[in-house]
Amino acid sequence: MVEISCTWRRLLSVLLLVCMFASPVAVMADGDFGLPDHRGNFHQLSRYADQAAVIVLPFSYNDPASLQAAEQLAAMQAQFTAQSVLVWLLNASDDADLVRSHTLSPGDFPVLIDGSQTVARTLEVEHLGEFIILDPRSMGVLHRGFDDISLLDGVLTEALAAKANSRPSRLEISTDPLDGAVLTYRFIEQFAGREISYQQDIAPLLKERCAYCHVENGLAPWAMNRYIMVLGWSPMMREVMITRRMPPGQIDNAVGNWVNTHELSDEELALLVEWIDQRGPRSGEGDPLAEPLPVIDEWSYGQPDLIINVPEQSLPATGNIDFLVKRVELDLQDDTWLSAIAYEVGDRSVLHSLLIYAVDKGLQSSNPDDLIASPGAEFISVYVPGEHVDEFAAESGFLLGKDKDLVFKLRYLTSGRETVDRTRIGLHFSQSPPLRRIRTLALEKPDFSIPANTSQHSEVMLSEPLATDVLLESYSPHAHSRGRSMAVSVQYPDGREEALINIPNFNYNWQLAYRPSALKRIPAGSVFRAETVYDNSASNPFNPSPDQITGQGYRVDSEMFSHFIRLAE
Ligand code: HEC
Repeated sequence: MVEISCTWRRLLSVLLLVCMFASPVAVMADGDFGLPDHRGNFHQLSRYADQAAVIVLPFSYNDPASLQAAEQLAAMQAQFTAQSVLVWLLNASDDADLVRSHTLSPGDFPVLIDGSQTVARTLEVEHLGEFIILDPRSMGVLHRGFDDISLLDGVLTEALAAKANSRPSRLEISTDPLDGAVLTYRFIEQFAGREISYQQDIAPLLKERCAYCHVENGLAPWAMNRYIMVLGWSPMMREVMITRRMPPGQIDNAVGNWVNTHELSDEELALLVEWIDQRGPRSGEGDPLAEPLPVIDEWSYGQPDLIINVPEQSLPATGNIDFLVKRVELDLQDDTWLSAIAYEVGDRSVLHSLLIYAVDKGLQSSNPDDLIASPGAEFISVYVPGEHVDEFAAESGFLLGKDKDLVFKLRYLTSGRETVDRTRIGLHFSQSPPLRRIRTLALEKPDFSIPANTSQHSEVMLSEPLATDVLLESYSPHAHSRGRSMAVSVQYPDGREEALINIPNFNYNWQLAYRPSALKRIPAGSVFRAETVYDNSASNPFNPSPDQITGQGYRVDSEMFSHFIRLAE
């Protein structure tokens, strides 16, 4: 597994603190970044290390010169394909909806939506229509300038030769802008008149968006609990924010209406990056991040009706732990309606996710994995860091039969010290039968195969038509380390299709439960369509074995196709 262990991460935090005095943070022209495009696909530069180069063209639909440049690039597409060169149109100017409304872009190139303009700033874009040729392996700039497009052929050939021979390009960089408009940095202009305040702007934002996970003894490798920590980690904060790794679990906000989508707004991202680029100024006294966190009482959601101990787990100090599957026998006297499940995590620095299933008592298997694979297994809930309770929608409940046991699928990280995790879950019962029953429609493929060294392998599954009208209550995606993106749509009986959710940059560490802002009615006869795209190439930093064909399995080195659509009916 290519994952930095916690020990290393903690060491790194110390090193960063040591280095920060020596190396000021500056706007970088080199580095990784990630952005969604007009179709809802996610592109991260480092994920294209198998390509020779990426040409980035800052562009706007309202700027004729850059639009024309994009059309000229489109005409050269066959040549780019032959040279393993990608073209990305970088749009930091137009409204995101306008960009998405142009379903066919020039050359059908991805139009990256840089609403916060932080990528344009990182690439130091001044004019639209300037070419920036990036090396996706080193993430450095091979060449940039305002070259006449007719010269691009020669420029590209020289840039690729320079890259192949590890030498700088011999071409002069032309600095005379062609006709492209100057890119207006609207957020920077907005911030320019005033000093960004650590106390007023930054610390409250970090509290709201990050610090509830980045706590002392939490799963995140460092606690965001004082100014000096934030300053020391700020270069890495910048990187994880502009590659959209943090906050984790971000989805495509153009699709559906979901509440817990974890993203930063364009303005928030621009503000944080600008503050980091100004080297994290701190004026005034006091440190909101150093204030003690509110103490969260045990069982803060209320005393549960039944507390269940997840079998305790000893963990070594270092190393990678595979998924664990464990069964707990229940002894319910009656069929019971659950209204919520609360989580009291034993050691928050190690438990990364916990999935709960109900299985028939009669089901026996020497291999625990078979328990959750059985058709009788029903997914109930998932725990992820930062959450304490999973509450079913009002007037709904999950019917836990007296003939059921619980099975847990656990994922642990190591934390640099040996520990024993003793996590408990609290079941809350409904006093009377609820109006609606919660049922999880699990779209799970029992068998599929992902070819070796492929970066985009799609698997699709359709549900049976719904027998009755239902309400969409929540959605949880599940895949392992090759999962790249996941999406669900619904095909209505009248033939219309509607996208429900799109997770363009899935990260298997973050198997969240997404909730719609309002319960959505889906009529009888509708069919759900679920898609997972896998990256089984070496460019996937989480991939343990790109040279192997991978199939379905419950271990980290195999893959899963699971979409849990929780319905109230
Ligand atoms: C839901 C919990 C959660 C939230 C919210 C969160 N983080 Fe994290 N963060 C983590 C965890 C856990 C890790 C460890 C790496 C991983 O599991 O992805 C981490 C790692 C990091 C790292 C280190 C990256 C590395 O390579 O080790 C940085 C920097 C970071 N987060 C910054 C942020 C910032 C900035 C925010 C808010 C804008 C934020 N995080 C929000 C949980 C969170």
